[in-house]
Order: sequence, then C-alpha cells, then structure tokens
Amino acid sequence: MSKTADDLNAAFAGESQANRKYLAFAKKAEVEGHTQVAKLFRAVAAAETIHAHNHLRALDGIKATTENLQAAIAGEHYEVVEMYPPMLSEAEVETNNRAARSFKWALEVEKVHEVLYRKALDRLGKDVPAVDYYVCPVCGYTHEGPFTEKCPVCGAPGEKFERIE
Ligand SMILES: [Fe+2]
Ligand SMILES: [Fe+2]
Repeated sequence: MSKTADDLNAAFAGESQANRKYLAFAKKAEVEGHTQVAKLFRAVAAAETIHAHNHLRALDGIKATTENLQAAIAGEHYEVVEMYPPMLSEAEVETNNRAARSFKWALEVEKVHEVLYRKALDRLGKDVPAVDYYVCPVCGYTHEGPFTEKCPVCGAPGEKFERIE
C-alpha cells in the first residue's frame, strides 16, 4: 500500500472516531444543560463525517452495493472470529468488567450483523417485502421487524428499541 493510501486509511479512522466521540460529547453536553456546546459538537461531528467519507472515496472504498455488502460481511465476520474473542478474554483476565461487557455485547451483535448482511445479499434485486430494523439502545442488538420482547443480548425492553426506516 502506498504512503498516501496508508494516510487515507489513518485519516478515515481518525475522522470516524472523532465523529462518534463528538456525538457522545454532545449527548453529555445536553444532559449538563450546555445546549449551545451540544450543537457545536453535533455540527463538527457532521463535518468529520464529510471528511471521513471524502477520505473513503479517495481510497475507492465505496463500490456497488453487492461488493459493499460483501465487504460488510467480511468486516463483521472478522470482528466475530478474530477481533473480539481475544479482546474479551484479555479483558476477563484483567478483570476489566466494563470492557468485557462492552466486548461481549459487540461480539454477540456483530454475529447478528453478519447474518443480516448475508440475508440482504441473498435478497438483493429480488422482490421481497420492505421491512424496518430495530436497534437496542443499550447493546446495539439489531432486529429485523418490530420487536417487543426483551433484548436477547442485554435484556433491555424491546419498547426502547430505535426504529430504523
Ligand atoms: Fe456490526
Ligand atoms: Fe440490547
């Protein structure tokens, strides 16, 4: 990989992280009553997303949807099989319970993501009924169709799930 491709990858990762961090900071600022600061965090977060997407485009990282789904499947699969299991066991060895819970939730949910992406790839271009997805606000568990039971990963009530249209 060229130096510039390395730089684009690093910049994409950094801008992506800044986006999520600023959104988390914005939520905290709202809770603390700093609404103007919250707004600024959200504005800069939006700009960092634009930077991240520009970097990703310059990397030719956005293809047609078939290839994008394949890339997404590979990414989720990597997280399930290679990335999270050692992170989880290391956190358990170090008795870092918050980290272990965070890794465990992500690991369980990435398995679901891989399945959902595979399903979407199978269905691509076929005449299948539209469906909304529902996301657990605590652990990210992602469900196809309405959901009222308890989250199977973290136990949060299904009524709290966010509907994604
Ligand atoms: Fe995922
Ligand atoms: Fe959950």
